Amino acid sequence: MCGIVGYVGEKSALDILLEGLTNLEYRGYDSAGIAVNVKGKVELYKAEGKLQNLKNITNENREHISQSVIGIGHIRWATHGAPTTANAHPHSCNCGRVAIVHNGIIENYKELRVKLEKQGCVFRSQTDTETVAHLVASKYAETNDLTEAVRLATKEIEGAYALAVIHQDVKNTIVATRRNAPLLVGIGENEYYVASDVPAIIKYTKKAMYLDDNQIVTLTPSSMKLIDTDNNELSQKYEELPWEPVALSKMGYKHFMLKEIHEQPDVVRNVLAGKLRAIDENIILKEVKLDKDTLKNLNRIQIVACGTSLHAAMVGKYLIEDLCDIAVDVEPSSEYIYRKTVGDKNTLVIGVSQSGETADTITAIRQAKARGSHILIVTNRPDSTMAREADSLIPVSAGIEVSVAATKSYIAQVISFYLLAIHIAEIKESANKSELETIKRELILLPQKLEKVLSHKEEIQLCAKKFANSKDFIFIARGINFPTALEGALKLKEISYINATGYTAGELKHGPIAMLDESMPVLSILMKGKVYDKILSNSEEAKARNARMIALTDSDDSKLNELFEVVIRLPEINETLSPVLAIVPLQLLAYYIAEFLGKDVDQPRNLAKSVTVE
Ligand code: AGP
Ligand code: GLU
Repeated sequence: MCGIVGYVGEKSALDILLEGLTNLEYRGYDSAGIAVNVKGKVELYKAEGKLQNLKNITNENREHISQSVIGIGHIRWATHGAPTTANAHPHSCNCGRVAIVHNGIIENYKELRVKLEKQGCVFRSQTDTETVAHLVASKYAETNDLTEAVRLATKEIEGAYALAVIHQDVKNTIVATRRNAPLLVGIGENEYYVASDVPAIIKYTKKAMYLDDNQIVTLTPSSMKLIDTDNNELSQKYEELPWEPVALSKMGYKHFMLKEIHEQPDVVRNVLAGKLRAIDENIILKEVKLDKDTLKNLNRIQIVACGTSLHAAMVGKYLIEDLCDIAVDVEPSSEYIYRKTVGDKNTLVIGVSQSGETADTITAIRQAKARGSHILIVTNRPDSTMAREADSLIPVSAGIEVSVAATKSYIAQVISFYLLAIHIAEIKESANKSELETIKRELILLPQKLEKVLSHKEEIQLCAKKFANSKDFIFIARGINFPTALEGALKLKEISYINATGYTAGELKHGPIAMLDESMPVLSILMKGKVYDKILSNSEEAKARNARMIALTDSDDSKLNELFEVVIRLPEINETLSPVLAIVPLQLLAYYIAEFLGKDVDQPRNLAKSVTVE
């Protein structure tokens, strides 16, 4: 996905646009551009690569560009057309009077392009977006009204879009609209902002209006008009934005990822606050509307998610099946939407998403909702599309997560699944009280155990240095820590680009063991519990093939040092809670390896913080 920002008011737009794009860089960063109107002329400034390249270009013309009090900006995550300057947004029409920025995918861009080329439009990029620029220009030529031109254009577009448009002949006016991609309006004093996400505008205003699908907003310095695509005027619902600007600073850490890893003890405290008040009190999930009858009639639970959120969902499966005696299926959203899924009004479908804007997961929950299933969303963004469409909601309260690699939001999602599982078990009376109280007690003790793990980060840094030049890396675990192995591998591969894979330890001997030799690090997640001995024997099998063995364990057995080249020791913890502790050293291992390799930790190549395109 990408980042869109726009400003119209009385101030110079340039720095507002550039600062907004800086705070949206986590959403995609393969090229960037702005469009401004200087003395009645629309001008585009674009650059491929990092945002700094655009800043360098605009700095050369700073005085000139700063005269503009209106502008739109875009930071791209390419879907159609390579990340070149020509394909960078904003895009324009033949005459250059229209400028448009777009997040999403225009599914029917090929047909539109053929039609527009027949009308004489000359395309200068390979993007799908450019078709919209020409389409809006042609509609404006018919109607002489930018709002109407955008409205008519959206009738011909298929696919997902968040758009912001300016036109040279329509002074100080931005028209913006969305369908299946996020867009919000920031409201200032005689000035308005548009943005894909809160970080772009939180510095200027906390008053906002979130656009819903198929709404069109027209902004001038003194006015905001909201209509739907049938031209009906709509009432405007304002909201208070949920953050302080401080969340956007690294607070002295080298990278946002390291800062967010260190925020995790407090994140656990935040997630538990108000929900787990005492060991002998029931869990309180105010926005979860699952009563005894609904739960009694539940025939299954399906959890849909992507990436790291999928791994959190997998931990949730173990917990809910363990405590609630309900069958749980977990699958990637992108698979769920393309098969015949079985479900009905007695199926609970849980969507897990840090951003709440992942296109695949939105599509999956909409499909489930259409079947009458109860939709419960676990998200870090209670202001997101998914949250707004939920029947039940668990906001994970991890605070804004800027680094593309999800860390604190993962822990917050996993903790939320402990709370949900206990909550359902308490309503269904499907688990004994003492077992639930043990888990609650361990949850309360978690933050200080996490702090203890973080205080030994140098040990993990040393391990990272030892293995930083590995070409491949294997993580093995069993049971509730199998998702931990998958998440540890994802963290490593997405920021260091090392080919890391997580396996359930029992599967090693069914093929992957063929890869083992002295060049292959194998990290065993060896937490005390019912599968400890099994993983130990799997580790011995790996060692027998000369793999370089690393143990992550809460055991104090000194004999482990004979089998493992490195033993990372953790505080003792109940096996059910161990995923929350075991993931932290793996996050740090990935971080220090990527940092040692000089990778762009917070903005890994090819990635974006939230994938709002399918
Ligand atoms: C995680 O580190 C990745 N950035 C990615 O896998 C992410 O978890 C995935 O895209 C899902 O995003 P969401 O949680 O916002 O839906
Ligand atoms: N599909 C458009 C492009 O490839 C927009 C991608 C994005 O959301 O950044 O340029």
